[in-house]
Amino acid sequence: MAAFDLEGKTIVITGASSGIGRALAVEFADKGAGHVVISGRNTGALDETAQLVKQKGIEPVCFAADVTSQDEMHALVNEALEKTGGLHAMVLCAGYEIMGAAENLDVDAYRRQMETNFFGVLHGFYAALPHFLEQGRGEFVFFNSAVGKLAAGLNSAYCASKFALTGFTDSIRCEMALHNINVLGVYPGFVKTNFQKNIESPDCNVPDDLARKLMGQTPEHVAKKVVKACCKRKGELIFTFSANLGIRLAPLSFYMTEFARAKIALPYFGTLVGHKGAGG
Ligand SMILES: NC(=O)c1ccc[n+]([C@@H]2O[C@H](COP(=O)([O-])OP(=O)(O)OC[C@H]3O[C@@H](n4cnc5c(N)ncnc54)[C@H](OP(=O)(O)O)[C@@H]3O)[C@@H](O)[C@H]2O)c1
Repeated sequence: MAAFDLEGKTIVITGASSGIGRALAVEFADKGAGHVVISGRNTGALDETAQLVKQKGIEPVCFAADVTSQDEMHALVNEALEKTGGLHAMVLCAGYEIMGAAENLDVDAYRRQMETNFFGVLHGFYAALPHFLEQGRGEFVFFNSAVGKLAAGLNSAYCASKFALTGFTDSIRCEMALHNINVLGVYPGFVKTNFQKNIESPDCNVPDDLARKLMGQTPEHVAKKVVKACCKRKGELIFTFSANLGIRLAPLSFYMTEFARAKIALPYFGTLVGHKGAGG
């Protein structure tokens, strides 16, 4: 696939009111995108992102939308087309986590995770797809997580939503390639954003600075790598050496992976996230 040149192109980004999405908006602008359309629910925070994008010399389009609504994702795409005259990349970054032991969650918690982290991406995908098919080209970027490849305890709802996204991503990549549409799956490790602060949990007391304590990466670092991978039309980007190692080794031995998950990762992580029982 020939490279994706950002000049004059319209990039739509969900989850742009905070963290990685905000850093992506700034990075796409910095690297020469023609238009950046930024979306989230919190309009005040979106305005703050807009100020940062303006410093890079372009006027962003701000659009408040909830990814759990198919109608709002269609409206976002229509806004991008009306205000900028095009749509070239759909970066679906919005997401959050519900953490906790399965016995303390209920089916509704899993449904809510799926609504944002899986169906939220699907809504963005189906809103943009007709335009990509019509123009014979397009870029999808789906934000996943290292635990969307290698599950961890206390993460069953989040893992379920991100594993569903991995299956969808890997299945459609080859289909989309037939239409010259690239699908990039992004799998970050810990990143220093508001993500930890926004974790919902019935039984964990997650410190806001967990990613910093674990020497997480900065959203700016992640954004730089993602924009580069998007322009090179890569299919997958997995962050951190240790996550890559774990993901590659896990299929080799079920028993070794289970031992590490149950005896090392769960007690250690349980302590870090203040879970009574698994660690804390
Ligand atoms: N930070 C990490 O350690 C980490 C690690 C692995 C993967 N990730 C993934 O990276 C992505 C970005 O996370 P982040 O670290 O940037 O977290 P963040 O700072 O908490 O930002 C999350 C973004 O998602 C948006 N969002 C959440 N629910 C939404 C909804 N229903 N509709 C529209 N927007 C919604 C939020 O905007 P509003 O509140 O304004 O709607 C916000 O802009 C997520 O998909 C996350 O799963 C993060």
